[in-house]
Amino acid sequence: MKRDKWSSQAGFLMAAIGSAVGLGNIWRFSYIAYENGGGAFLVPYFVALLTAGIPLMILEYGLGHKKHGSSALSFAKVGRKYEWLGWWMPIFVMFGIMFYYSVIIGWCVNYAIYSVNLKWGANTEEFFLKSFLGLSSHVGEMGGLRLNILCSTAFIWGVMWLICYRKISHGIERACKIFMPLLFVLTLILIIWGCTLDGAAEGLKWYLKPDWSKIADWKVWVAAYGQIFFTLSLGFGIMITYASYLPKKSDLVQNAIITCVTNCLYSFLAGFAVFSVLGYMAQQKGVPINEVVKSGPTLAFVVYPEAISRLPFLNNVFGLIFFITLVIAGLSSGISIIEAVTSAFIDKFELERKKTVNIICLAGFLGSIVFTAQNGLYLLDIVDHFLNQYGLVLAGLLECIIIGWILKAKVLREHVNAVSKRKINRIWDIFIKYITPAVLLSILINELKNEFTKPYGGYGLKFLLFIGVGWVVVTLIIAVVVSISPWNPEKLKYDHRPEEDDLMV
Ligand code: TRP
Repeated sequence: MKRDKWSSQAGFLMAAIGSAVGLGNIWRFSYIAYENGGGAFLVPYFVALLTAGIPLMILEYGLGHKKHGSSALSFAKVGRKYEWLGWWMPIFVMFGIMFYYSVIIGWCVNYAIYSVNLKWGANTEEFFLKSFLGLSSHVGEMGGLRLNILCSTAFIWGVMWLICYRKISHGIERACKIFMPLLFVLTLILIIWGCTLDGAAEGLKWYLKPDWSKIADWKVWVAAYGQIFFTLSLGFGIMITYASYLPKKSDLVQNAIITCVTNCLYSFLAGFAVFSVLGYMAQQKGVPINEVVKSGPTLAFVVYPEAISRLPFLNNVFGLIFFITLVIAGLSSGISIIEAVTSAFIDKFELERKKTVNIICLAGFLGSIVFTAQNGLYLLDIVDHFLNQYGLVLAGLLECIIIGWILKAKVLREHVNAVSKRKINRIWDIFIKYITPAVLLSILINELKNEFTKPYGGYGLKFLLFIGVGWVVVTLIIAVVVSISPWNPEKLKYDHRPEEDDLMV
């Protein structure tokens, strides 16, 4: 079976950027920057981008391209012993992060509809928690399923299925070629609109006011590295898979730089949309900015709706644009993980694409249902904490070790240089073998230490262990089991690209 291909480099870039730019860029970056030194945060962020983001992006592109396979096949070609990691990466994201990520995109659909008549009313917090989520009193109390959330989540899975079941150049590539330009235009409208509001300048001052004393704080660096990993979809197995669909001659280094820089620039600029609106709202309410600043769901579903209601004109149009922007950003990230899992199953079990996507999307939807219950917000918070803080960092760490030391960084560097116009030198090896793993390891140890001294979010250790750690372990077992089953030997015959692939140049 011939491997699918992108129809153009631009199509590949759109899809890779689409995967990277997600909800996190809009509601996470600006808050992290604000909390960790404002303008001064750009320094650790930039350092993390240079020392971990770009090198790892080159690693993932190089691996998928050289081995010509999904993350599972690529790691199996490095050594059958390491194949489980190639499964675990996409599996814990798909059957973990993606379960609730899709529900949140579903919320955005609901809120896009609500913005037409500003249905959230005057008390947006009460509306979100009580009327919309029907939030139960604690995580152990499941309550019933929320029908409107269930419907919007089903809709989101339907859309993603519609995109993914076609082959890559017709499905994901075409969708991202529409989504990405649209996303950039809509974001630009939000930025310009936001920045012309009264009080916007005050908001931006808070966003970017540098507090240099923070740079000495270790926590700020952890935040910068953590954000870089999540935002660039590194350690998910996605970029490995996407790069495997590239033709033999592809400038991997340049593509990696473009993907990383565009994503980070997008985050930085999206912060202008967020903080200008916060500045406006603070002025309207006559309170200091730090009383209205929030991140994550609270920013998008409590603070922003209130600000939208207070806008002087065309509030519903602004609301619609904001929530549609979130939906598009989320969708293009969601389809990328579906592709990473699908591709791994097709590689190993030689299944038909449509059938595989049917099953994966159905499984994804069924798993998401758990998060549409009345305790969904608590569950989401716990699973998000464990999979992001530990899963991703651990995956990145193991990836560096296996590629840097077992496959050998030099081997991959030579491959990357053979196909790229822009070259990388030995410094890259040093990052992959020593610096990035050292940073990731210290983050991991530090996080673990915190976990035991102060269990996350005050949920009680029972729930944390059962849900959070349980999730990590169960996905790990699934990954190991799948990786043990045998391959069609033909598949592993070529350690790298088959020669006939040269014709594709
Ligand atoms: N980079 C995305 C963000 O910043 C996160 C992400 C990428 C993601 N791929 C994903 C989340 C797949 C869930 C599934 O939001």
